[in-house]
Amino acid sequence: MKIVMLGAPGAGKGTQAKRIGDRFGLPHVSTGDIFRSNIKEQTPLGREAKIYMDRGELVPDSITVGMLMGRIREEDCKKGYILDGFPRTMAQAQSLKQALSEMGDRLDAAVNVDVPDEVILERMAGRRACIGCGATYHIRYTPTKKEGICDRCGQATALREDDKPETVRHRLRVYHEQTKPLIAFYEEEGILRHVDGTRGADDVFSDIVGILEA
Ligand code: AP5
Repeated sequence: MKIVMLGAPGAGKGTQAKRIGDRFGLPHVSTGDIFRSNIKEQTPLGREAKIYMDRGELVPDSITVGMLMGRIREEDCKKGYILDGFPRTMAQAQSLKQALSEMGDRLDAAVNVDVPDEVILERMAGRRACIGCGATYHIRYTPTKKEGICDRCGQATALREDDKPETVRHRLRVYHEQTKPLIAFYEEEGILRHVDGTRGADDVFSDIVGILEA
């Protein structure tokens, strides 16, 4: 099964993609996580990506497409994957379609997690990410057991640089201009499915499982 998660920054794509990956035994491929791990390791790719990410801009397609294509050709992706944060531009969607068609393959579903901008702003302000393993929490909805300490690895949690309110507003503008048009693209491809992302995370998860198992 090859699935794309669509939705605004903070819609809950990552939260759901991890759970769907566990449920169906598929790798969760997040371009944001790959960039953040490169930033942590201070690789040339990470240094370049950081410039764009801190400003709330998209990392250029020339960097992102090759990186993602390399990842989905790895062994663990042979049986399928959940793409989280890719594609984000029409050029990325076309490149993915082309690469899959060259392999005689296609996507099975594009799941759009629908959440209005006002809810996004509130969610991002409360999101905390582990500085060690990158696990994400929300101070109100999914808090850590011990305040400020990651449940998974015990390191500190913090507000991501790009989750500052002014940067989130910019990321939302970028989303509406460059990523939202992909909803129409996948509708035309006949694989678009919508879920109401304002419901609790468990309800959203059940809705997605229902869609994928139908
Ligand atoms: P990326 O990491 O992909 O960020 P994003 O899409 O902006 O998504 P987020 O991770 O911010 O949010 P999410 O939808 O996963 O929500 P989450 O589950 O965490 O990308 C970061 C940057 O990298 C980009 O800005 C760009 O610069 C670059 N980049 C990445 N991919 C790229 C690409 N393809 N091309 C170019 N550049 C790229 O949930 C958010 C919060 O809400 C959490 O606190 C969570 O606990 C909480 N929450 C989740 N679900 C619920 C719920 N149902 N109810 C209540 N709270 C909830």
